[in-house]
Parts: sequence; structure tokens; C-alpha cells
Amino acid sequence: MTGIFRKKGIHLIKEGAESKGLKKTLGATDLVLLGIGCIIGTGIFVLTGVAAAKYAGPGIMLSFVLSGLACAFAALAYAELAALVPVAGSAYTYTYAALGEIIAWIVGWNLILEYSVGSSAVAAGWSGYVVGLLHSAGIVLPKAYTAVPADGGIVNLPAVLIALFLSMLLVRGTKESVTLNKILVVVKLAAVFIFLALAGPKVNVANWSPLMPYGFSGVAAGAAIIFFAYIGFDAVATAAEECRNPNRDLPIGIVGSLVVCTILYIVVAGVLTGVVPYTELNNAEPVAYALRAIGYNMGSALVGTGAIAGITTVLLVLMYGQTRVFFAMSRDGLIPAGICKVHPKYGTPHIITIVAGIAVALIAGFTPIGVIAELTNIGTLFAFVVSAIGVWVLRRTRPDLERPFRCPGVSVVAPLAVLSCGYLMYNLPYETWIRFFIWSAIGLVVYFAYSYRNSVMSKEKPVLE
Ligand code: ALA
Repeated sequence: MTGIFRKKGIHLIKEGAESKGLKKTLGATDLVLLGIGCIIGTGIFVLTGVAAAKYAGPGIMLSFVLSGLACAFAALAYAELAALVPVAGSAYTYTYAALGEIIAWIVGWNLILEYSVGSSAVAAGWSGYVVGLLHSAGIVLPKAYTAVPADGGIVNLPAVLIALFLSMLLVRGTKESVTLNKILVVVKLAAVFIFLALAGPKVNVANWSPLMPYGFSGVAAGAAIIFFAYIGFDAVATAAEECRNPNRDLPIGIVGSLVVCTILYIVVAGVLTGVVPYTELNNAEPVAYALRAIGYNMGSALVGTGAIAGITTVLLVLMYGQTRVFFAMSRDGLIPAGICKVHPKYGTPHIITIVAGIAVALIAGFTPIGVIAELTNIGTLFAFVVSAIGVWVLRRTRPDLERPFRCPGVSVVAPLAVLSCGYLMYNLPYETWIRFFIWSAIGLVVYFAYSYRNSVMSKEKPVLE
């Protein structure tokens, strides 16, 4: 049974990466853009309004501070691990080196919630904005094909189609996808700034009072929901193996994109709750709604279009992140190695990319967005908690390792990351916890039925590091 805690030696991880490598094409700017591309999306464009109306009120600004702080602690820890073990797979790979196989498996299993289930939530948000924009242009799509069964439809077809389309794009290669990502990031940032420029001068400070209509517990609940808006900075780390200079560029990519997004979120949340009463924001397109409410119909359509572009980039990077985590897990033998194959021409793990794309499409097509967004949050937060513990453990067990990036004040920052992410988990609904436990239990069954025996580590001498 001690085998379940076998650790993968850091040198082995690096060698493995070299022997079955991916192309190295990304630099620091690519990574910051990849981060922003993944971070700003459904969270700010859709969930902010819902969380403000239902939980936090204008105090949603504080929710963003709380959630942003938790992410900042987690990001610092992540950056150390990412620079130390610069290979595909992010939290999963780090945990394998620090805490052993079974914990790594549980983290990898939860990263599926972050990336695949998260992608599904984002695809559903994308569909909502597209349907809304077409509606304002006079094109009304039938509800049966634009809503999930729980919302009275048959299938959310636009969500299915965008997921499949983007997975085809990812099969063709990282470089092209990153180029498209850059264009879409610019469009998305333009949309955010147009919103701020139009709505900013119309802020009525009376709307900010009361600041916390549901008290601090409302702000905390809001923070747990809008944590979704921050998901993605860690996806930068999943691209480690494709970086030209990961040791320097990964910390820049992770921390840099997080800082930019946090500032924008707090400002957008302030303006949004400043121009319309928070009670009106519980709708599918709160940002566009707020602009219409103050008389900017054209501006609203523009920002809506930008939001669609923004959400597309999020989807692209999350789906990309998933394929890289699967790639790392299959390389380790924890999922079937056959699907690890890199495409001879495109240099991408094409089989996993397609399998993941179909899964994302199916979940998005048939499951309500709220359910999948909360499940995404709990899985991601759990992975962050374990990574923060991992960085701390590795400092104790392997003080000798060369650390290109050192998390500042690790004995304070790592526990703070654990506590703050744990606090956000605590504030998620009871049903989400139940789903999380069920998902984890399924993961353990798969581990003992397949992964434990097929692990590459079971064929090698365990490395005691
Ligand atoms: N942070 C991403 C979003 O807001 C997942 O859509």
C-alpha cells in the first residue's frame, strides 16, 4: 500500500518530458496573454452580476478582493512549482513529485473538473451571449436547441459546436492557437475598456449603498462563486513544456496576468454596481444589460461582441490546459498510454484533444451552467490547496533543489493559500460538496482499478527523494 505514495523523481519528470516532448514555441508575453486569455471570460461577463444580485450586492467588489487574494497566494506557490518542474501537467505533475502518486492522481482528477467541466461552463456562457446578440439582431433561435433539458430545452447546440470547433483548432497546433488567442485578447480588453469608458462617468454612488446588503457572509458567498472569474492563471503553468525559457517566464506569466485581471475586475464590478441597482443584475448578460439601461444600445452590442471573443479565448486555453494535463497523466501510465501519442505532423496530443473536446461538448450541451461552474470552483480550489502544501513540503524534503523562482515568505504564504482557498471552498453550497465527494470517489475507484497497476512507476524503482 505504501506504493500509492510513491513519488516521481524530479529528474525523471524532466527526462520523461524530453523523450516525448512537445514543441517549444512560447515566450513571456505569450504566457501573460495566454493567462489573460484564459482568465477574463464568463466569470466577469456573466457570474459577477448574478453573484452581486443574489449574494454580495455592491460588496461584490470586496468579493473580488477576497478571491483575488486567495489566488495571489496560490499563484505564488504555483509559480515556484512551475519553475521548478517546468513540464506539462501543472498541479498534477508538482504533486507527483512532492506528495506522491495517489495525491497526484486526486489532484489530476480534480483538474478535470477545472479544465473540462470548467470549459463546459464557459461554452454554456458563450452560447448565452451569442444567442442574446443574435436575438437583438432579430434572429431568434429556437429554445429547444439553445437550452439544456433542465432549462426546458433539448440541447445547448451552440455550446456543443463551439467546443468541437475549438478542439479541432487545438489539434492543428499551439502556435496557431496562440496567435488567434492574441487577437481575441485584444478584442476582449477593448470591450472591457469600452464598458468602463461609457459606464464609468454614469456611476451613481447612491447605488453602492448599502454596500453589503446580505452582510459579510454574502460577500464571502459571492467570493466563492466569482472565484470562477480567476480560474485560468494556472493554465499558464500547463504550457510549461512548450516555453522557451520557463524558469523566468512562467512566474511572469502567472503572477502578471493575475495582477492585471484583478485590477480590471474590481473596477468593472464597481462600475457595474454603480450604474444600475445590484438587484437588476441577475441576468445572462449583466454588462451588456447595464449599458442598455443607461442608453448605450450600440455600445452594448459592441461590448457583447467583445465578450463573445473573450469567452472564446477562455474556452481555448482551458481546453488546451486539459489536453496537457491528460498528456502528462497518460505519459505516467495513469490513463491509457495509447492516447498520449503526439501527432506526427502537428506535434500535438491529438487523440486526447479530441476525446476531451467531445466530453466538454456533451457536458455543455446537457448540464445547467450554475451546477458546472460551482463544481469547477471546488475542484480547482482543492488542487490549489494541495499544490500549496506541495510547495511547502518540497522545501522541507528537498531544500537542495535549485529553485529558479522562490515563493516569497513561503512559511506564511503557503499556509495562507491553504486557508484562503479552503475558506472559499467552505463557502460553496452543500450540494456542490456532495458532487465533489462523488467525483473524488469515482476517481479513487479508477485509480485502484487501473492507474495503480499501470503506472510507469510500478515498473520502475521508486525514487526516494
Ligand atoms: N476565468 C474564466 C472565466 O471567467 C474561467 O470564464
